[in-house]
Amino acid sequence: MKVLGVSGSPIDDGNTDRALKTVLDTTGMDTEFVKLKNYDIEPCRACLKCVNTNVCVINDDGNTLAQKAKDADALVVAGYTPYSSLDARTKSFIERLYPLHHKYGFMQNKPGGAVITCAIPKTYEMLPDSCSNGENAVMYHMMGEGMNFVGSSKVLGNVPCFSCGYESECDTSGLKMIYGQDATLESVGVNNFEEQSEAIENAKNLGIKIAETLNSE
Ligand SMILES: Cc1cc2nc3c(=O)[nH]c(=O)nc-3n(C[C@H](O)[C@H](O)[C@H](O)COP(=O)(O)O)c2cc1C
Repeated sequence: MKVLGVSGSPIDDGNTDRALKTVLDTTGMDTEFVKLKNYDIEPCRACLKCVNTNVCVINDDGNTLAQKAKDADALVVAGYTPYSSLDARTKSFIERLYPLHHKYGFMQNKPGGAVITCAIPKTYEMLPDSCSNGENAVMYHMMGEGMNFVGSSKVLGNVPCFSCGYESECDTSGLKMIYGQDATLESVGVNNFEEQSEAIENAKNLGIKIAETLNSE
């Protein structure tokens, strides 16, 4: 049994990657961790040329990644949420699983889950709940492919303005937008997955549920 974990976060070993690795490790199964930034993948062109071949006509890494998903027994998709929605790499990846859809439903009944990192706390009322938007994008994709979505872990990450170096003088600082005009790097602090008990518990539960589902088959 093999569990494939795919991370769309471009940051090496960031919250998204570490939470995904926790899910994979908790399954206790054979796993593969894929970092999408190391692959070249366009979004789906909706040309439907994959209908009879189950293979995409785009000459990039999309077919390699789709083959990995097809060969895996379970799939965990991890993304982050620029501008309150699922990031473009992760979205391209799930779109490019479309060739697996036709006639055979190659992803059908496989257990799946999501890890989503967002920087805007869900209590911030001026913007939508980014983590839920990302989670829904993955969940509805998996439901559309007939997969068994068994859970998710939502992680509070960091506003990129945190490390840009101009956070104190910038009028559009995300730090000030979310945490108030007097917010500083020191007053806000760095958010780490390892300090978020709910996110850790949900990541471990996701790994356990995937293992239980696969072992019961
Ligand atoms: C251009 C850009 C826009 C972003 N916009 C949002 C946003 O609207 N909502 C949000 O929750 N996070 C936003 N983020 C923050 C990311 O979700 C955050 O950087 C995430 O924690 C990255 O995950 P990592 O910990 O794996 O690096 C944005 C990040 C970037 C780079």
